[in-house]
Amino acid sequence: MKQTLLEELHLSLTADAPFISPKFFYDDIGSHLFDVITLLEEYYPTRTEQWIMDAHRAAIAQAVGDCDVLLDLGAGNCAKASQLFNSIQPKQYRALDISKEYLEAAVADLQKKYPQIDMCAEAIDLSLPLAFPDIAERRKIFFFPGSSIGNYDPKKADQFFANLAQECHGNGGLLIGVDLVKDRETLHLAYNDPLGVTASFNLNILLNVNRITGSNFNLQDWEHVAFFNESQSRIEMHLRARSDVEVHLPNDGSKGHAIQFKAGDLIHTENSYKYTQEGFTEKLRQAGFDNIQTWTDPKKHFLVCFANAK
Ligand code: AVJ
Repeated sequence: MKQTLLEELHLSLTADAPFISPKFFYDDIGSHLFDVITLLEEYYPTRTEQWIMDAHRAAIAQAVGDCDVLLDLGAGNCAKASQLFNSIQPKQYRALDISKEYLEAAVADLQKKYPQIDMCAEAIDLSLPLAFPDIAERRKIFFFPGSSIGNYDPKKADQFFANLAQECHGNGGLLIGVDLVKDRETLHLAYNDPLGVTASFNLNILLNVNRITGSNFNLQDWEHVAFFNESQSRIEMHLRARSDVEVHLPNDGSKGHAIQFKAGDLIHTENSYKYTQEGFTEKLRQAGFDNIQTWTDPKKHFLVCFANAK
């Protein structure tokens, strides 16, 4: 049976090591805060990926080749994919994301600018296996930019890639952007910006949890923590209790109760994995891709790959 968001949050908050899935960052305020993060000097991934896409637009289009369907995974406002329309010239564009309302407006807007492309918006849950039986025969290009893959545990990422490779049925491929391992200082600053936007983004997840579950998290009780875990090659974000805190999860049948946190206790909110170029392309190969082409920036901070499905 499919879990409701409420059930999911009850379980994760009462686990031995409490956590909140990063998908809960992106309510209205959270989405706007993330947009601000991408403007910060310290947050290099978004602008570096944009630089790579601009600098290598023709080569990327050449590598991608004919595109029957461009499948935009986590499309959001469709801005990144729409920049590829002129160079890649997809016959069809499918915008896929969790919430359909937001997508539909963005797609309707784009459709006016690109009447020759057949467009549609679809709500999907990226944590579940994907299947596109109606376009099995068509050459598909999956687009997964922004190092969104960084939120997946490495094993989960392998399964996700294998799923995509299989859905390509021997042709097509994956155009993906991923953040690279780099010096600690640069990584640290990107998730600990002096303006505190990332801290606000992290804290806001509690407001969203309050909204969904009726809980009473108080933001004053929590502080933002982000650090690079080198052995796991990931940035970890947590919220740390400033003092002993009791939080009420309102009655939900037998499951309603209060949760106790001690000063210093952590709620894990995000992992953001960083890869090496070699490690990442090897992952794609293992999952059923080959002929992998890569583009990067002069500082090698970010990587864009096109991988052909075998
Ligand atoms: C959207 C998952 C790529 O991991 O850098 C930004 C989210 N978290 N600052 C990332 C995020 C804190 C972002 N991703």
